[in-house]
Amino acid sequence: MKAIVVQTEQEGHPLAWQDVPEPGYGPDEVLVKIHATALNRADLFQRAGNYPPPPGASEILGLEMAGEIAALGAEVTGWQVGDRVAALLPGGGYAELVNVPAGMLIPLPAAWTFEQGAALPEVFLTAYVNLFMEAALQPGESVLVHGGASGVGTAAIQLARQAGCRVFVTAGTEQKLSVCQSLGAELAINYKTTDFAEQIRAHTQGGGVDVILDMVGAGYLERNISLLNTRGRLVFIATLSGAKAQIDIRQLMGRRLRLIGSVLRARSLAEKVEIKDRFMAQFWKQFLDGTIRPVIDSVYPIRQANQAQEKMAQNQNIGKIVLRVVD
Ligand SMILES: NC(=O)c1ccc[n+]([C@@H]2O[C@H](COP(=O)([O-])OP(=O)(O)OC[C@H]3O[C@@H](n4cnc5c(N)ncnc54)[C@H](OP(=O)(O)O)[C@@H]3O)[C@@H](O)[C@H]2O)c1
Repeated sequence: MKAIVVQTEQEGHPLAWQDVPEPGYGPDEVLVKIHATALNRADLFQRAGNYPPPPGASEILGLEMAGEIAALGAEVTGWQVGDRVAALLPGGGYAELVNVPAGMLIPLPAAWTFEQGAALPEVFLTAYVNLFMEAALQPGESVLVHGGASGVGTAAIQLARQAGCRVFVTAGTEQKLSVCQSLGAELAINYKTTDFAEQIRAHTQGGGVDVILDMVGAGYLERNISLLNTRGRLVFIATLSGAKAQIDIRQLMGRRLRLIGSVLRARSLAEKVEIKDRFMAQFWKQFLDGTIRPVIDSVYPIRQANQAQEKMAQNQNIGKIVLRVVD
């Protein structure tokens, strides 16, 4: 089969579409013919050599895909060759074929394209596990989503709104802010021109927020902690501005705050299946009726993966960048 291979011996680690061995598949796995995959920020870190796949995972980039089942493991039940599916992957999405544990499969709704299916798993499962399982976000609470126009941000805004929460976001351009508002954000703040903490205090008459989903890290830590309401939760999912900062522990004690760090990729298969099942039980109906949808920025042929990743590296995407594997 063909797959994207990182040319680590060349400067900038360019991506090339090359012949590689086909993956095998176990008795409780299916082999999927991939029609589309999608970019995640983590792909850029992995390509640079800073985010190796967990033990046992494919070395090939790609944390999600949508396609058709091409073959079934001996113990798989409930699925047929030809079924249209999407799945979260620990790696291996930028390819023509991938093996997927049957427990991770998401049935693709009949009306959905493979591009839509590929844009769903990583960002919606990340938003879901962090907002609803890690931070235990409750209806009526408020949540601040940093990077509101990112893939994860566009998923988080929609899930939180559907759960009956107030949503505030930060993003870096006016166009990004207006998309966040169209998805349900009540307050969208340009962090490049405004202090987000001051703006939220003004908007909430001196109050703060119950939950913060943060991908920025060190540069926002002090302001994030200052904004949390009593029993507030701050979930770290990335450290785009740096990973080391100081904390005033008395603030955590006084308002009984919780700081939570979280990754999805390194979790066990059993945990990922549970996350996917709980996500579908709570929100799948809203996907089927179109209330929630993956936000797709652009679609590139997989041979243009270099250009697609460059767009993400420049922070130019709003929502997901998809790679089409089958024309
Ligand atoms: N822990 C986990 O399990 C997990 C899972 C999935 C993703 N993630 C992380 O979540 C983040 C979002 O992922 P994604 O694939 O959705 O990303 P994405 O679509 O590439 O969006 C990331 C956005 O973050 C903003 N940004 C970049 N550098 C920044 C900085 N220094 N300060 C403030 N904002 C900055 C940019 O938007 P602006 O123009 O608004 O600045 C950029 O478009 C990534 O950092 C990713 O690694 C973590």
